[in-house]
Amino acid sequence: EENKGNRDQSLLAICELLEENVPYYNWVGFYFKNGDKNELKLGPYVGEPTDHVIIPFGKGICGQVAVSNENFVVPDVQAQDNYIACSITVKAEIVIPIFVNGENIGQIDIDSNTPDPFSKEDEDFLEFVCAEVAKIL
Ligand code: SME
Repeated sequence: EENKGNRDQSLLAICELLEENVPYYNWVGFYFKNGDKNELKLGPYVGEPTDHVIIPFGKGICGQVAVSNENFVVPDVQAQDNYIACSITVKAEIVIPIFVNGENIGQIDIDSNTPDPFSKEDEDFLEFVCAEVAKIL
């Protein structure tokens, strides 16, 4: 689709802004529902490359958010049994769903190398970011 390149550039710029400006945001990326498949597909991101380009619904923190439609804040990834490790340096994760016309169409995923770094302020801020992102999708 013609606008996908522009859209992905904007999404990448958002990832870069977030990663550069918040010291405890160490991997920042987007996952989107992959067509009509029951899986997420990796979108623009900054940080270490990940093997997890496709994540089935229900798997890991991201896959759980795809079905719960709720924010998921993980202060300690080691304490999660349904977690997909991307890097051994990651201590915590936050995933916030993106809604378009009330439908959960994807998410922002942030990994932190700092233990328990995410507050309600991060949730509120990232919900705002996701609402802005929804407008350009
Ligand atoms: N940790 C995620 C997988 C994606 S990586 O963080 C980039 C999860 O458990 O779903």
